Amino acid sequence: MKDEFFGSDDQRALLRRGRGMAAVLGQNQRYSYYGRTVGLPGPEDGDIDHLAALATVQGSATYLTVPLNQVEDIKASIEARGLVPMVYDKWEGARSALAAARQLVATLSLPEDLTMVQLDASTSDGHVASLAEMALGCGVLPPCGEVLRGLLRPAVCLVAMDRSSKVVSCAASSACAHKDHPRHGGQAWWGMLATDPARRGQRLSVVLGAQALLEMETRFGFGDFMTGVEPGNAPSEVICARLGLSRGSFAIIGCTDPRALASGRMTK
Ligand SMILES: CC(C)(COP(=O)(O)OP(=O)(O)OC[C@H]1O[C@@H](n2cnc3c(N)ncnc32)[C@H](O)[C@@H]1OP(=O)(O)O)[C@@H](O)C(=O)NCCC(=O)NCCS
Repeated sequence: MKDEFFGSDDQRALLRRGRGMAAVLGQNQRYSYYGRTVGLPGPEDGDIDHLAALATVQGSATYLTVPLNQVEDIKASIEARGLVPMVYDKWEGARSALAAARQLVATLSLPEDLTMVQLDASTSDGHVASLAEMALGCGVLPPCGEVLRGLLRPAVCLVAMDRSSKVVSCAASSACAHKDHPRHGGQAWWGMLATDPARRGQRLSVVLGAQALLEMETRFGFGDFMTGVEPGNAPSEVICARLGLSRGSFAIIGCTDPRALASGRMTK
């Protein structure tokens, strides 16, 4: 297990515990993991006590698919246990996402001073540190290094690097539920979009995001993607829509133990 975790002391401890839990539970198809903490694909995989137990052990845990009519009950149940709920809209896209990605990649490219790099086992620690610093500066917590480098699960992390080897934008995608999960095994998580404020508006996110989707299809055969967006995060919503994802009838609900993470949230 490579010790490559990011963020504040609390965030690094959370990611380290998540990685440990993934080693313990990763073979069990009722759990999901994409490099932050082990969670549950949905309430049918474990009830609220189960989610709360995962959050208590790790500091945070997530239901990835909650029907909208259950959101208020689940929020209240999380709060009743002294834990903090965080509700995101679940944006999803399958064929529409790949079609949009293909069209974007055919028409857009990175500015010529930037190079696209895919992380792998040989990526230098300095480049990964530059990615983490930029993403964290944007409020986005990167998954653990083993996932970003594609060493643990089918996963892709792309960065745009300037001529001084500084990372100025990033996107990632990873397997999420267990591959044998009956409903969600074929759906990958996609996200970790962040762009250095000095380079925003240059289409870096759409280009990297589109390439990440296509790479997940080409290398691992994924054809269905999802991400969580905080309601009101306008740039994120615009990018998801540009990439053929849409908001459906599900939410993603995070459950965080404020004793482990004082802010009550793991990432943006
Ligand atoms: C979201 C973020 C990654 C966008 O990065 P970016 O590289 O500037 O985005 P792009 O230039 O690729 O923009 C893509 C589209 O979003 C639109 N967009 C970008 N910022 C926007 C804003 N603030 N409001 C509305 N639309 C916006 C662009 O106009 C573009 O649409 P278009 O192609 O139709 O013109 C960046 O703002 C960021 O790092 N935000 C903080 C972290 C964050 O919220 N990440 C998402 C977590 S879910």
